Order: sequence, then structure tokens, then C-alpha cells
Amino acid sequence: MGMKISRFGKLQDGREAHLVTLANANGMTIEVTDYGATLVSAVVPAKDGTCADVVLGYADVTDYAKNGGYLGAVIGRCGNRIGGAEFSINGVSYKMEKNENGNNLHSGPNGYDSIIWEMKADAEKNTVEFSHHSPDMDQGFPGNFDITVTYTLTDENEIRIAYKGKADQDTIANLTNHSYFNLEGHDSGTILEHVLWIDADAITEADAESIPTGRLLPVEGTPFDFRTPKPIGQDIEQDNEQLKNGGGYDHNFALNTDGSMKKVACVKAPASGRTMEVYTDCVGMQLYTGNFIEDTQIGKDGRAYHKRMGFCLETQFFPDAIHHENFKSPVLKAGETYETTTIYKFS
Ligand code: BGC
Repeated sequence: MGMKISRFGKLQDGREAHLVTLANANGMTIEVTDYGATLVSAVVPAKDGTCADVVLGYADVTDYAKNGGYLGAVIGRCGNRIGGAEFSINGVSYKMEKNENGNNLHSGPNGYDSIIWEMKADAEKNTVEFSHHSPDMDQGFPGNFDITVTYTLTDENEIRIAYKGKADQDTIANLTNHSYFNLEGHDSGTILEHVLWIDADAITEADAESIPTGRLLPVEGTPFDFRTPKPIGQDIEQDNEQLKNGGGYDHNFALNTDGSMKKVACVKAPASGRTMEVYTDCVGMQLYTGNFIEDTQIGKDGRAYHKRMGFCLETQFFPDAIHHENFKSPVLKAGETYETTTIYKFS
């Protein structure tokens, strides 16, 4: 156990960011910053005891502010896409920023990934709690929304991310974490050899703009069948319309779940033997294989990142759920509590 707080650079407007380091009893450490409530690093020992940083990230806050890709950030109020960048709640329509093909991705330019959160670190519990007051009409969403995101590093080598919020009007609440993982090390080539298991019988079919059509597509007999573990790269280049639409995997898996906390995915890195399990109470999970990582994204230690060097497993409601009655509703009712937890567990 142990905790350290340091400076993480300044934004252009002079606001300062901080970095908190948490350590556990097994020599695992993580770093989180108040900028975007972002997971900056996770240093995890392998079978032979060698440690590697398995999260893609940048050297300081100016690089986070400058580069795209949402590395390690908390996304909100609504992760993933809202078709047409508008929606209605209780008969009132709301407009958002169109930041991708006329749709909204990750809540637009004023998302929670680019704010400085209030931060409270607790050395005893090995937690960092980030909180934020998101005002009425922030990013286009109705209602004042108060949200906390708490990271905990446990002695079971788990990174627990707990989200809890309340709004004073009916609104959308669908936060996620956008970490890119590479279990061989953040700077060690593509993730195509990583072996992935996902407990999902179907994905939400997406159109050419990655907006769900509303249909659930059974994974049986498709490149999306990860029910038996297989390398991420095994079928990624198959001649498949869904894969073409996403430029690789960039799809929401409809998890086999009743919404209680359960293990939904497992990833194994063949060379180091590092394993990561994902536990969540969410109904959906976006597998994104870093198809759009740009060569200009220079990460920590000055290492250049490239396409498919990291994978994301973003737990959430289904994308564009607000427009599909057959998808679980992402609407948070006024005065009710939004509460969800996701765990990334390493061994
Ligand atoms: C989206 C991708 C997008 C990436 C980074 C993912 O959640 O599904 O399409 O490129 O985030 O912005």
C-alpha cells in the first residue's frame, strides 16, 4: 500500500492537473489524474515477476489535452454514440454537438474526459474519488447531474471503478472508462495476439457510421464469436460488413447478464502470461481494437503509438440506447441514483 500525489502539468488556461499513484501489497501500481478522471498507467507484474505498464497514456496533461483518442478517460454524460446528435426525453427534444458524421460521440468536445475533476485521495482505503457537478444543459443534457467516480486498487490486483450520480431532472447517465490496454506493455506492438473471451451471444448490429440499427446480431458463425477464447487478430481481417463498418472491432457486445456483477471478459497476453478479467454490472461492452490510433500519438516515455496497439473494453448501456425501445434505457430518473461498477482484475 502507499500513495503519492504529484503535479501533472498545466492546461493552456493555467489550471493545474495532478497525478495520484496508488500501490498495493503485490507491487502493482496505478496512476490516475484529475484531468478526465483518467487512468494514466497500471504497472502489473508478470509470471516471472517482470513489471510492465499495461495502459496507453501520455506524459502529462498537455499531451492529453492535445491528442484525441480518449486514452484512459472517463466518458460522460453519455459514452459512445447518439444518432443524429439529438434525442428526446418526456417529449422535449435536446440537441448535442455533432462531432462524428452528424452524430454525437462520447458527449462531444465538453465531455467529462476534458474537465478537471475535484479529487479526494484516501491512503487508508487506497482510493481516489473524483467528483463533478455537471450543470443543467451541459453538453445538451437536461438536469443538474452530480457524479462521483471512485478508483480503488485492491490487494487482489483489481482496479475497481465505481460510478455514482444523481440528477434533478430526467436525463441520460451512461459513463464508461476508455482505457486502452496492452498486457505485454503499452509500447510493445499490436494486441492482435492477445487471446480474448467475451461472454456475449450477440452484438448490436451497427451501420456504416457505427450507429446501431436496433437489431441484435447473433455472434454464432461470425468473427464476433469470442465465447471460446481466440486471438483478437484471428478473424479481424475477415470479409465481413460489420468489421468493415468499424475498421476492425468497434462494436457493442450484448453481454449475457441479468445486470448483476459478473465476469464478462478475459484477455490473456501470450508472451508475458499477463491476464486481465473484466467484471461489471453493465449490459453492454464496446470492444474497440484501436483501429484509429494515429502514428502522431506519442505516448509515455516518448513511445509512438500505432493502430491496434491497444484494446478497449468499455462497459456501458448499448450505444444509442435512447433511440431503441428494445435496448435497456439509459435514462436516469430525477432523484434516483445512477450506480454502476466495473473491475479490471490482473493476474
Ligand atoms: C469508439 C471508436 C472511437 C474511439 C476513440 C471508441 O469508443 O467506439 O469508434 O474511434 O472510441 O474515439
